[in-house]
Amino acid sequence: MITAYDALTASIFESAGIPSLLVGDSAASVIYGHSTTLPVTVDELIPLVQAVVRGTQKALVIADLPFGSYQASPAQALETAARFMKEGGAHAVKLEGGAAVLPQIELLANSGIPVIGHLGLTPQSVNLFGGYRVQGRGEQGELLTRDAKAMESAGACGVVLEVVPSALAAKVSEMLTIPTIGIGAGPGTDAQVIVWQDLLGVTADPAPKFVRRYADLRTIMSDAVRAWGEDVVSGNYPADEHTYE
Ligand code: KIV
Repeated sequence: MITAYDALTASIFESAGIPSLLVGDSAASVIYGHSTTLPVTVDELIPLVQAVVRGTQKALVIADLPFGSYQASPAQALETAARFMKEGGAHAVKLEGGAAVLPQIELLANSGIPVIGHLGLTPQSVNLFGGYRVQGRGEQGELLTRDAKAMESAGACGVVLEVVPSALAAKVSEMLTIPTIGIGAGPGTDAQVIVWQDLLGVTADPAPKFVRRYADLRTIMSDAVRAWGEDVVSGNYPADEHTYE
């Protein structure tokens, strides 16, 4: 699973063989420029989901429910999830949290909505955590394990495990029958998810420890745009072959 926020990159990732695309609330930072995921709204995410759906043919498109759009009640979660599916065309939704969102997961699953849970370093709770820190160490691990099991029983079809100890993620993955999708959770999960701008080196350094950069698009894009700007100034572009009679 990889994040996607527009039609073109979604089509590239699908052609590259990635089966599921997450329109993450990480759009808050990588698209909208916020420093946390908290400010992004349903109305800002729905057009991104629509674009990703338009850009793909067979990928599973998962919409992230943003902060404040599902915590109040199961009814609020259903209303938001239904918007992402009816207006956005999403095939599944994801929400953050443990025991507190079990009633939401149950109602969504019973309403025919594939729902993915998200445990560990859940960025919407950054203010509660006091920063982006590893979660699930020591006794917290027991709680996370119970939450994961309870999510499966409530009807979740998968669980994202973010920035938790590798041994804990492996144990939870062994225990569950639904797939776990790790990010900063080591190699023992059933799948991995990543924010594409981190993977391809668009975001500035330093990257989180769990990121391996597979490209340096920041440098490639910056060098290319600088060269174009210089060519425009010097008159080297547009040339004859770019010009109409
Ligand atoms: O919003 C997001 O991109 C996510 C992934 C990092 C799991 O939740």
